[in-house]
Amino acid sequence: MKDIEFSFEHAMIPQQRILETAERLRPMIRNMANAISEGYESDLASLYLPDDRLMLGKVRQVIGENLQLKPAYLIVIGIGGSNLGTIAVQEAMLGKLYNQLTASTKVLYADTVDSDSINNIITLIKPVLEKGGNIILNVISKSGTTTETIANAEVLIDLLRRHKKDYKKCITVTSDKDSELWNIAVKEGFKVLEIPKKVGGRYSVFSPVGLFPLGLLGIDIERLLDGARAMRDTCLNVNVEENPAAICATLQYLNYKSGRNICDLFLFANDLESLGKWFRQLMAESIGKESNTKGEKVNVGMTPTVSIGSTDLHSMAQLYLGGPYDKFTTFVGIKNSRSSLQVPTVEGYSDLVPEIHCKSLMDIMDATLEGTKAAFRSGKRPYIEINLPDKSEYSVGQFLQFNMMEIIYLGKLLNVNPFDQPNVESYKKETRKIMSEQN
Ligand code: PA5
Repeated sequence: MKDIEFSFEHAMIPQQRILETAERLRPMIRNMANAISEGYESDLASLYLPDDRLMLGKVRQVIGENLQLKPAYLIVIGIGGSNLGTIAVQEAMLGKLYNQLTASTKVLYADTVDSDSINNIITLIKPVLEKGGNIILNVISKSGTTTETIANAEVLIDLLRRHKKDYKKCITVTSDKDSELWNIAVKEGFKVLEIPKKVGGRYSVFSPVGLFPLGLLGIDIERLLDGARAMRDTCLNVNVEENPAAICATLQYLNYKSGRNICDLFLFANDLESLGKWFRQLMAESIGKESNTKGEKVNVGMTPTVSIGSTDLHSMAQLYLGGPYDKFTTFVGIKNSRSSLQVPTVEGYSDLVPEIHCKSLMDIMDATLEGTKAAFRSGKRPYIEINLPDKSEYSVGQFLQFNMMEIIYLGKLLNVNPFDQPNVESYKKETRKIMSEQN
């Protein structure tokens, strides 16, 4: 199995300074290694997920039961940490055009309460239900009380109920054991999958939150976990020089301290866009904090942005190369695509862009990435590079795990708790207040 490759050569920070700062992470690295032996007991519980064979067995069993129904669609109902990881892996593995290309179960995501977009989902699935076909609903909510998820679940469960006597067998609920949603699901006779208590939403992609829908779509979830486990062990190396998550966290930290407070993840693969959005949430919710771990007001956090190569070179490159020196970029490349299309020789066209004559699209993409990095270097714009060997389950599993550990280390360097999101509660409270005043 090939591993992800990292290059820190152009981060524009002296090696000595990187290593001195990264050394501060040593005790944390030890804590993390010890936490694995505590299973789900510690706050670092998500690190144990790749080892949990019992959970994998249970997820597989529920996938099997659902596949017997030969579902035409899987509808994932969840938001934020409850669906971003699934969308990220699904698109990376199966492509953004999966639904148009597959002859098997299609997937749709119901996250926000946008009436028109939920209505479009209904328009697609209603004919299937009218013909007696099966639709699987996977309602995912750790708290069990997220407004958007519960609203969408009620709308879609009602639709199923009106079309199928035995609709209950088509519903799987993923939640914390004993949440209100869990208790209703058990009472109703829906299938249930448990999210371990101390595994937070944005760290839950390797729990049933991600594994159930991804496995149902045919993704090899065991390989995904293998990649995660291998990267986890690499990123627990106390020799920080050989620990990519510790080094990347250090570089993010030092760049932030030097005033580069925008962190751009520049992915040179169209189908990785949602992986970028998954990372955006992971960094924003974990690092953007009002108070530090001592309770002092600090208002820290870099702003994560996502760019797609080569598309966004035609919209953002002017700013990136000419604008303020406030960004630190991570370029993500893919060494091997699944296909190998070539620009054909067509008479009369070859003078338009002579350089692309007989080149593969991958060669053109690689040259664009190399050209972009060269421009960054001559403009003294710092960056790091991450190269995935391919878009396999193993590589994507590695990439996800690397990012989660990088963010935990970054939280440590900034002295913030990477697992909570106290300020999110304020808008939720206000929204509920407005709705109860409307009753
Ligand atoms: O990462 C997080 O904790 C959040 O993004 C949550 O996942 C999101 O708010 C949805 O919460 P829940 O799973 O409780 O419905």
